[in-house]
Amino acid sequence: MKQLEINLTKVYDFVPQSEIEALIPSCKQAMDLLNSGRGKGSDFLGWLHLPSATDEKLITDIQKTAARLRENCEVVVVAGIGGSYLGAKAVIDALNNSFDWLDTKRQNPVVVYAGHNISEDYLFELSRLLEGKRFGIINISKSGTTTETALAFRLLRTQLENQLGKEAARQNIVAVTDASKGALRQLAQQEGYKTFVIPDSVGGRYSVLTPVGLLPIAVAGYDIRQLLAGALAMEKRSETAFEQNPAAQYAATRNALYQQGKKIEILANYHPKLHFVAEWWKQLYGESEGKEHKGLFPAAVDLTTDLHSMGQWIQEGERSIFETVISIASPNQEVVIPTDTDNLDGLNYLAGKGVDQVNKMAELGTQIAHVDGEVPNIKIELPALNEYHLGELLYFFEKACGISGYMLGINPFDQPGVEAYKKNMFALLQKPGYEAESAAIRSRL
Ligand code: PA5
Repeated sequence: MKQLEINLTKVYDFVPQSEIEALIPSCKQAMDLLNSGRGKGSDFLGWLHLPSATDEKLITDIQKTAARLRENCEVVVVAGIGGSYLGAKAVIDALNNSFDWLDTKRQNPVVVYAGHNISEDYLFELSRLLEGKRFGIINISKSGTTTETALAFRLLRTQLENQLGKEAARQNIVAVTDASKGALRQLAQQEGYKTFVIPDSVGGRYSVLTPVGLLPIAVAGYDIRQLLAGALAMEKRSETAFEQNPAAQYAATRNALYQQGKKIEILANYHPKLHFVAEWWKQLYGESEGKEHKGLFPAAVDLTTDLHSMGQWIQEGERSIFETVISIASPNQEVVIPTDTDNLDGLNYLAGKGVDQVNKMAELGTQIAHVDGEVPNIKIELPALNEYHLGELLYFFEKACGISGYMLGINPFDQPGVEAYKKNMFALLQKPGYEAESAAIRSRL
């Protein structure tokens, strides 16, 4: 069976293969730390075996709940932020027809998102959209106390209860949260909502293969068993020796490039559907590695679109970058370019070719141009865009992130820096308990 492949040949002109291989011992040590649970943040390694350990009972429960929401709702709002929504959105967007939400004959509920910002206009517009609609809410928060998500949930729940009445609303609300802690668990218990547990040992950005990602993906109509099967194949492959292990190779290569002075990794794709895969990846690597004044800055571009904006910078800006391209070997659909008798647009030389052939030449031409412009290039190729290969890709990035973080010497499983803005926001909002911080911050304004 075809599988995800990594191609590093366009890195070797910049960092010789021998220098990457010199990192194999450090990479192996990082893998040993992960496998033995002796590394930093080892309380949060539950994601490592999610593909092999997810049991049938949980999958059936997720599918049953998804079926109820699909039956009851034309719109399902996924409320969550960071790791509590990006994985689901990444997979759903990658698999969805790009214009699905405009399709009046659609089979699946439209999945929309909330709780990932505090924009009044966004929440107003969402509330307007939901007026008179049969909608449901999947509220996802591990801590159960995240302000953005809790605020959106309060508004959405109130609207749903006003539209349907409390009892019917209850049928359309699902909470995904900690097994026992947090305000959302308490609220769900009190209101009798259907709940799913985010295991203690799985941090937000590693949670896409728990109900956090699986439930919304199932609601959107996609095959979560195939997603898990692809992830399982990668779980197994990423336990093998360096030479067969794409996650270890990626982790070692990006660390070698970092040691050579590359500070920014740009994740590029050639399909707009992958935009949110890159957003998910940015969170995974940014929040995992950006610590102790270390870490590659994860950036992303959608190509060829951004060749007409960021392309100039990538080609000729400061040489502190390298590029990682997600390449899809075969498109799912076929569009053949027609012949035009007048040929005023000069495109007849492409007539009879599929659009993807043009895209592939753009991809190859860009790779050669960027390498000529001194941008090392890592290529990650998926045979096709489907649940199985997305499962491989998600697990590949997660495993590589754990290895890479340990190679960097940081704890890839905490996020202490995220607290700074919250403390200031609570102080400025005069949240009870923040009196001293409130006075201190106000004196600085
Ligand atoms: O990766 C993480 O841990 C974070 O991005 C969280 O997912 C995010 O802050 C949301 O947290 P919670 O699920 O507790 O609301």
